[in-house]
Amino acid sequence: MDKAAKWIFAGLALTLSGMAAAKEYPVDPKSGLIMAPGWEQVNYQCNACHTSSIIPQNPGNRKVWRETIQWMVDTQGLWDLSDTWDPVLDYLSTYYGENEVDMSKFRRMPLPADQQPPLPQS
Ligand code: HEC
Repeated sequence: MDKAAKWIFAGLALTLSGMAAAKEYPVDPKSGLIMAPGWEQVNYQCNACHTSSIIPQNPGNRKVWRETIQWMVDTQGLWDLSDTWDPVLDYLSTYYGENEVDMSKFRRMPLPADQQPPLPQS
């Protein structure tokens, strides 16, 4: 490899590691929320009635989050999120999407068939 190629290579490696680092955000110890852009709006609006730890347990895409929050607006007295709808939905669908959350943290695997209780007699 000549000198120029080495510099390009080093620059590329630095850029890539910088991108990876930017993707990792600390977790707020109080709310348990990932402190990525938009987390403040979620923290101050989504801790008022229940714990925000309900959030990682109900992951979903943007549409699922929109419907969950709309249900709270319609039936549970949640205010309209007005100009925070977009940042809140961006945040939730990015960091609490179906593929982002490891659900095995919350639910155990089913028991193997031979360890399950017998089905009730009909
Ligand atoms: C005005 C009160 C209120 C606020 C504020 C509120 N919620 Fe809820 N939320 C509820 C109630 C009531 C329930 C149902 C009871 C329960 O599961 O504890 C609920 C349930 C949920 C559930 C579980 C839904 C399910 O399918 O089981 C999620 C997820 C959730 N809220 C997320 C949020 C998010 C995100 C925000 C912020 C945008 C928020 N909540 C703000 C009242 C609220």
